[in-house]
Amino acid sequence: MEAELARLAATAVDEIAAATSEAALEDIRVRYLGRKGSLNAILRGLGTLAPEARPAMGARANAVKEEITAALDAKTAALAAAALADSLARDRLDVTLPGRARPRGHLHPLRRVEDEIVDIFVSMGFTVFDGPEIDDDWHNFGSLNFPPDHPARDAQDTFFVAGEPDVLLRTHTSAMQSRILRAAATGTAVDGRTLALPLRAVVPGAVYRKDDLDPTHSPMFHQVEVFMVDERVSFADLKGTLAAFARRLFGERTRVRFRASFFPFTEPSAEVDVSCMRCPNAPEAPDAGCRVCKGTGWLEILGAGMIHPQVLRDGGLDPERVRGFAFGLGVERVAMLTLEIDDLRLFYEGDLRFLAQF
Ligand code: PHE
Repeated sequence: MEAELARLAATAVDEIAAATSEAALEDIRVRYLGRKGSLNAILRGLGTLAPEARPAMGARANAVKEEITAALDAKTAALAAAALADSLARDRLDVTLPGRARPRGHLHPLRRVEDEIVDIFVSMGFTVFDGPEIDDDWHNFGSLNFPPDHPARDAQDTFFVAGEPDVLLRTHTSAMQSRILRAAATGTAVDGRTLALPLRAVVPGAVYRKDDLDPTHSPMFHQVEVFMVDERVSFADLKGTLAAFARRLFGERTRVRFRASFFPFTEPSAEVDVSCMRCPNAPEAPDAGCRVCKGTGWLEILGAGMIHPQVLRDGGLDPERVRGFAFGLGVERVAMLTLEIDDLRLFYEGDLRFLAQF
C-alpha cells in the first residue's frame, strides 16, 4: 500500500506539471482526490491492514493528499499568473504616446469682425435685429425717401428678382429701418421683439449690389446698420456714439472726423473718417508711406446722418416729436483695415491657407 501511495503521488504530480488549463487541473483533482478518486480507492484497503499499521498508513495517505493539493494550488496560481502576463503583453498600451490632435476650426474673420462691431453696440444698449436679404422696393428705397428716378433703383445697380420688378436683393441694411420704426411706433413686434421708444437698433447682414468682383468690390458684402430714435436725440449723440465706438474698435487714441455728404434718408448727412490706426501719430503726423491711409492720416469708414423727417413719417413717427440718428458701415471695409488685407476676394475663396491665419 505504501508503494501504491508513492506511485499515485508521483503520477499525480507529473500530470499536474503537464496540465495547461484550469479545467485540466480540476479533472486531475477529481480523478485523484474526488470521492470516487484513486486516493479513496487505495484508502478503502486500510481495513485489510493490521490495526497497529493503520494510523501510520492513514497519516501517509493524508500527506499524499496534501502534496497533491499543494501541487494543484501552485499550478493554478502559475496558470493565472501566465494568463495575466500574456494579456498584459497583448494589450500593452503606451500611455506616453502623443494623442491624435483633431484640427480645430474657428470663426471666419468677417464673422469675427462683425461680432466685434455688434458686441460694442449691444454693450451700449442696442438690440440686434435680423432682416430679409430678399426685400421689396418700398423697404429698400421708397420708405427711405429715394426719389422714383434715383439711379440706385436702376437694374444696372441693383439685383431684381426676374419677372418681379418690385422684388430685389437689398442693397443696404437701411432697408430694415422702416420696419423697425413702424414696429416702435405701433408697439408691435419685429424679428420676435416688441418695440417702443427709445429705440436703439443694430442690424448686421449681407447686402447686394451689381458690381463685378475685384480687389475692392463684391456683388455681396456685409453691413452693420445702427440707429437710435427718441425724443431728444441730436447730432451730438451721433458724434458721441461714433467716437466711443471708434475708440473701442480701433483703439483709445482713435479720432473721428465728419465731412458733409448726402443720402436721401438722412439730413444732415455725413461721411465719417477715423484716424489711421497704423500711424502712431495720425491724424496730425501720419507716416508718409503708410499703406493703410496712404499718408493722409484718415480712413473713410461709414455713412451717417440724422434720420430724414420723411423717413420718420413713413415709419409712423412724428418728426416734430422724435428724432433719430443712423449710420451704416461695411464689415469688409473694417476687416480689410484692421487685418491689413488688400484684396477683398480673399474673404470669399475659402482658402484655408488664408483663413487659418486668423
Ligand atoms: N445705407 C448707406 C449705404 O449703404 C449707409 C448709411 C446708413 C448712411 C445710414 C446713412 C445712414 O451706403
